[in-house]
Amino acid sequence: MSTKHRRTALVTGSNRGIGLAIAKGLAARGDIMLLAAARLADDAVACASDIGRGTVGVALDLSSPDEARVRVREIEAEHGPVDILVNNAGVLIDHYGADVSIEDLERSLAVNAVAPFALVQELGAGMKERGWGRVVNVSSGWGSFEEGLTGPPAYSISKATLNAVTLTLAQWLGPAVKVNAAGPGWVRTRMGGASATRTPEEGADTPIWLATLPDDGPTGLMFRDRTLVPW
Ligand SMILES: NC(=O)c1ccc[n+]([C@@H]2O[C@H](COP(=O)([O-])OP(=O)(O)OC[C@H]3O[C@@H](n4cnc5c(N)ncnc54)[C@H](OP(=O)(O)O)[C@@H]3O)[C@@H](O)[C@H]2O)c1
Repeated sequence: MSTKHRRTALVTGSNRGIGLAIAKGLAARGDIMLLAAARLADDAVACASDIGRGTVGVALDLSSPDEARVRVREIEAEHGPVDILVNNAGVLIDHYGADVSIEDLERSLAVNAVAPFALVQELGAGMKERGWGRVVNVSSGWGSFEEGLTGPPAYSISKATLNAVTLTLAQWLGPAVKVNAAGPGWVRTRMGGASATRTPEEGADTPIWLATLPDDGPTGLMFRDRTLVPW
């Protein structure tokens, strides 16, 4: 990406874990104005001040995809067009077994797949019109058919849906707006736990790379460690 053009990036779930590492990594480049989105307004303000470099904190709760769509419309009206969207926020309902409740499945789908879909729809239209955009959906190997969908059912189904969202919207938005999925690996966060093998910074590397792809970069694919992986 040319350093002449300052882009605006919005990262969901910026207040901790992989999202905070992605937000810090993007802000550190110096050519990106960062909107650090968090579910709670206080967390958004706190993480923006932690990240620094002119970062603006914005409250963005993804529990209701319709409300999230309205909220990003307000965010764009206040802060200008978003060029880079990182759908990082996610929930893991750690329940294995076919008796998963419909409520847990619906909540997982809302936060992990349907709200990201609404955000790409809402922000992607402007990116397409302006002829430039990057969308990164932070997915998981547990959402990969190829890897057997081996995670807790509500989580695996929601991440497989996010992968479908990635491919579908990449086709809809066209080559100038690149929509890819990233698998961060097993990362030491509240979700990944203390035994995980990677740091948040390691987990953030591929999402940051996809968020700043050059114009001849790929779209509609999934990557881990900057390497194409099957889904
Ligand atoms: N850690 C891993 O090993 C691993 C592996 C594969 C994929 N991933 C994916 O990586 C992404 C980041 O995970 P992480 O490990 O950093 O998890 P984390 O530490 O648990 O952080 C999750 C983030 O998502 C936010 N979030 C949850 N529900 C939300 C909602 N309704 N609205 C807005 N934000 C919401 C959380 O906000 P609050 O603080 O307000 O709850 C938090 O910022 C997720 O999509 C996850 O599925 C992680």
